Amino acid sequence: MTTPARLEVRHLIRSFDRLRVVNDVSFRIEAGEVACLLGPSGCGKSTILRIVAGVDMQDSGSIHVDGRLVCDTQFRIPPERRAIGMMFQDFALFPHLPVSENVAFGLPGGHAAHRDRVAELLDRVRMSRHRDSFPHELSGGEQQRIALARALAPRPRVLLMDEPFSGLDERLRDGIRDDTLSLLKDEGTAVLLVTHEPVEAMRMADQILLMRAGRIVQQGAPYNLYNAPVDRQAAAFFSDINVLTGRVRGALTDTPFGEFLTPGLPDGSEVEIVIRPQHLRIDFDRAGQGPAPTTENGTAALARVVRARYLGRESLVEFATDPGAIGLSATVPGVFLPPAGTPMWLMLRRDRVFVFPRG
Ligand SMILES: Nc1ncnc2c1ncn2[C@@H]1O[C@H](COP(=O)(O)OP(=O)(O)O)[C@@H](O)[C@H]1O
Ligand SMILES: [Mg+2]
Repeated sequence: MTTPARLEVRHLIRSFDRLRVVNDVSFRIEAGEVACLLGPSGCGKSTILRIVAGVDMQDSGSIHVDGRLVCDTQFRIPPERRAIGMMFQDFALFPHLPVSENVAFGLPGGHAAHRDRVAELLDRVRMSRHRDSFPHELSGGEQQRIALARALAPRPRVLLMDEPFSGLDERLRDGIRDDTLSLLKDEGTAVLLVTHEPVEAMRMADQILLMRAGRIVQQGAPYNLYNAPVDRQAAAFFSDINVLTGRVRGALTDTPFGEFLTPGLPDGSEVEIVIRPQHLRIDFDRAGQGPAPTTENGTAALARVVRARYLGRESLVEFATDPGAIGLSATVPGVFLPPAGTPMWLMLRRDRVFVFPRG
């Protein structure tokens, strides 16, 4: 027997008007782990959170906390007895209560019975001197910290967070995310955080649950999702990508950048060869001579600069191959602004290329 996960969701299904908004979703989160439900708007993330919280009900599937059944289609523990905390996008602080009473709200007996816990959390989120302030007297970032302290005060076994940083000023977000993450790690609760921003998921998550149209299409550590995406859309969700198409012939696919191994795909089928802009190699043209092919980078293809732009940390250079006119983007650290029309040789870092059957 394996030890039960802090939160385990099994085969969750939820339909609205016969449309399956959550379509057979299963995952587990351990204590101390932050899992991010990541996906485009409308893919079913908040619905999963609401079912786990107990404010919506699944059509089928079960939820367990520490091995104990929380709900299935017959049995249901009410939301307030699930030991599951929730933090919303708009923070939902009580406007008529001072900060200390807001933080104590979920504790039996309130502030009077739990002065130490409230003081500890206010100190931890650096809001002690605001304990008697009212929510409207606080900035967005300060309200976020109070909402977080309130959600953690009763020591929930699982904390659910629905887009908790989206209302905050872009410039403050990274700092607030990092502060939030260190507090969550100190508290050791299991966290299920919803976001549609890949950068946020990469920054916060131990485990990313990548969703599309009601299903989890891939789950794993940020490194795995970024470096071993399951399909072209998964790759494209995390960054801009270049896509070359080709046709399989005898377990190989030929392209202007040399042959790629495409084993297991039927002869004549179409494949997509995907590479991120930072993984193109660029070489100058020396009187029509390109670099020799290597196992690391394959064959070089001649291309011409279409447009080059400086983006601050890096430059973005758009190319068209010559001939064939395949469009490709490359990013280069720092300033690199070759004039339009400049001939250059492009190579693809073979260890950074993903090959998918055409979807
Ligand atoms: N109570 C509801 N009644 C009908 N449709 C709903 C309801 N709640 C959510 N939906 C629909 O389910 C889909 C997923 O919604 P949601 O889980 O909020 O997505 P996300 O949080 O990923 O943006 C959307 O198409 C939404 O319109
Ligand atoms: Mg949502």
